[in-house]
Parts: sequence; structure tokens; C-alpha cells
Amino acid sequence: MEYSEKYLHLGEKVDLDANVVCVYRVRTELPIKAAAAAIATEQSTGTWTNVSTLDENIFEAYSGKVIDIKGDRCTIAFPVEDFSLDIGGVPQIMSVICGNLFGLDALQGVRLEDCHFPKCMIREFKGPKFGIAGMRKILRRPEKPLVGTIVKPKIGLPPRGYHDYIYEAGMGGLTNGKDDETLSNQRFCPLEERVVAIAEAIDEVRQESGHRMMHAINVTTRGDKVLEVAERAQELGATELMVDVLTAGFAAVQVLAEDPSIKLPVHVHRTFHAAFTRDPYHGVAWNAFTKLIRMCGGDAVHIGTFGVGKMHGDAQEDLASQRACTEEMGGLRPVMSVCSGGVHPALVGKLVEIGGKDIQIQAGGGVSGHPKGVRGGAMALTQAVDAASAGIPAKKYAKDHEELRMALEKWGSR
Ligand code: 3PG
Repeated sequence: MEYSEKYLHLGEKVDLDANVVCVYRVRTELPIKAAAAAIATEQSTGTWTNVSTLDENIFEAYSGKVIDIKGDRCTIAFPVEDFSLDIGGVPQIMSVICGNLFGLDALQGVRLEDCHFPKCMIREFKGPKFGIAGMRKILRRPEKPLVGTIVKPKIGLPPRGYHDYIYEAGMGGLTNGKDDETLSNQRFCPLEERVVAIAEAIDEVRQESGHRMMHAINVTTRGDKVLEVAERAQELGATELMVDVLTAGFAAVQVLAEDPSIKLPVHVHRTFHAAFTRDPYHGVAWNAFTKLIRMCGGDAVHIGTFGVGKMHGDAQEDLASQRACTEEMGGLRPVMSVCSGGVHPALVGKLVEIGGKDIQIQAGGGVSGHPKGVRGGAMALTQAVDAASAGIPAKKYAKDHEELRMALEKWGSR
């Protein structure tokens, strides 16, 4: 392979309004400069050998530049002209910043750790319709973390089971419910019947207690059908939509967020992400994908549980994803960070301590596994969130909150 030093521009300041800037962690036996140049080459104007058709003008205008190397991390700037947002969109962005490079034989591992997009590109995306503020407004919950559940069992319940679960969850104080990532339109629970049953439960909760709730219906499907399925769900009374972004593709989120017919928040599940995110030396850090999801218009995005839940994770990585949800990004609305996966009331204090109040805390087993059933579990989780929001330790709050006390007895030592 012939890696040209011409791709090295170490120390050069690039215009952040005219370049996509990416940080890669590289594991290689090559000198790091050669490895970084290999990435910039492969992802922009080059290939494994010099080509007679690459003239100086093309090279100058479109080549990726290695602008920094620190230890095993290199920073590469790609000119905005390398991107095609009108037709290529996010798929083409991904082909540039996280495409062929993962397969280069000269690298033992490479991980996209972060990416920055210039304002002129972000402007081409509408971003979230609702985001944190919009969801809080719908739920009339201005400050405390949102508190939700994933209906369990993951699969198998009929529509009536969803109705009863969500009714109990709402009466127990939860603000959010959601389908699980593998639930779609299986025969045991047709999507249309489920939407109607859940809408009825949410209405009943509101009529009986005044409490507001939303439930994300999983509309993940093939690209040419997602809008149709979402529109039907909305028509039948859905209050939120859910997409498994990595299995469906970023475009599925974007079409729901940008199509004027859809007037519901979009909850973004990240099933499949660990295939990309778990290896610290190879893949893509979730904060990078979170930025793309925000551009595409996800209103709430799973970011992990800061290392305290059932899924492998790390507080620093999840905080980086949370920052990607909320930091200034070309004026896009801030996105609600969803903490989910092995959550139960005893973990809530830690989640709020690390993540603050702008998070959606949700538990499946940690609600329906409560000794007093779904309503008891919903009450316990709500009490835990109330305690954490008021800065009161859960154990102290549990002294006069029976459901929380029972939850801590069952799960407190985990
Ligand atoms: C999710 O969608 O995050 C998981 O299904 C969480 O389920 P759990 O709370 O039972 O771990």
C-alpha cells in the first residue's frame, strides 16, 4: 500500500464551518501517521495505490486532512464538498465517516469516537419536532425526570394485556410506556389492536386521575412502509412512535420527524448498537450516532444507564451521548436521553446523580417484577424518582413509601 504523506496536515487549523471533523481511535502496527493517512485516503480521494486520474485540483478540493494525532487518536477533517445531503443524506455521511475504513487490513481496529458537523450541514436537517421541552409540555411535567416502563414480557401479551399494563402503569404514576424492540405486528398482538387498546388505557388514566401519559408504538418496518404504518398508528390514537434506528436505518427516524403528517414524538431505540459500540478499539461510539439521530429528528434516544444497569456501559461514554443530545448543535432542539436496560428503583438515585433531571428513566422488569405487580412497581419507580428529584436518599424516602420499600428489599442489593 502506498499512503501519501500529502494527507497529513498536522497542526493545521481547519474551518469548522466548512469541514466535518472526526476523531478516530486506531489500533495498528503501522506508524500512527501512516494509519491516519490511510483512513483519510480511503475515505476521500484515494485508494490503495496512486491513480492516474487524481489531479492536483481534485486532491486539493476534496481530500480528507489528518489535522491532529494524539497517542492512538487521530483527527481527520473532510471538506463539506465531499457530502451530498440532497440525495445521499445520512447514509452517504456514514459512508464517508464510518465506511470502508473499518475493513482496512492494515488496521487491527479503528473506532469513530466523535464527529463534528458544520452548521451549513446541520441546517439541512429539521431535527426533533418536540425534544425535551416538547415532551415535557405534552406530559405537563416541567422538571422531574420522565419515568417510564417497557411492557414485559417483551413478546406474547395480547392487546388487552397491553391495555391493562399501561392502565396500571399510568395509575401508578408513570409518564411513559413503550413497546419493546422486538414487538411489531405479530399474530398474538396485532399492531392496530394494540394501538387502540393502549390509547384507551391512557384515556382512562387521564379521565380517572388527570394524569398524562404517552406510549411509544414500535413502527419499525421496511423503509417504504414506515410512514404508512406510523400514520395508521397515529390515526388510531398512538401518542408516540418508536423506531429501532440501527435495524431500520436513520432514514426511518428522519421521515417520521420531517413528514408534516406525523405530529407525534419519535422514541429511538438502539437495539444492535453494542455490535458497534462495545469494543473500545473498533466500531462507533454512541455519541457519534446520537448526533446523527438528533439531526434526523429523534425526540428521545436511548443512551445507556451510565454503567449501572444490566447492559455493558460506561458513565463517561453515556455522558458523552447525553451531551450529544443537549449541547448546542446548530440550533437543533435538545433531545431527551433515555436510560433503560436493567433499571429498577434502587438505581434511580445514581441515574439522577450522574445524568441530572433531563432524563427519561424507564424500567421493564424493574416495574412488572415488583411484588405488588405493575401498579406497585410503577408507584415504586415514581417514588424513587420523586425522592431523587428532591435530593432525598431512596432508603429514607422508603420509610413512609411502602412500594419503594418493597422494591428496595427485592432489588436494593443489586
Ligand atoms: C429496553 O427496551 O430498554 C429493554 O427492553 C429494557 O428492559 P428491562 O428494563 O426489563 O431491562
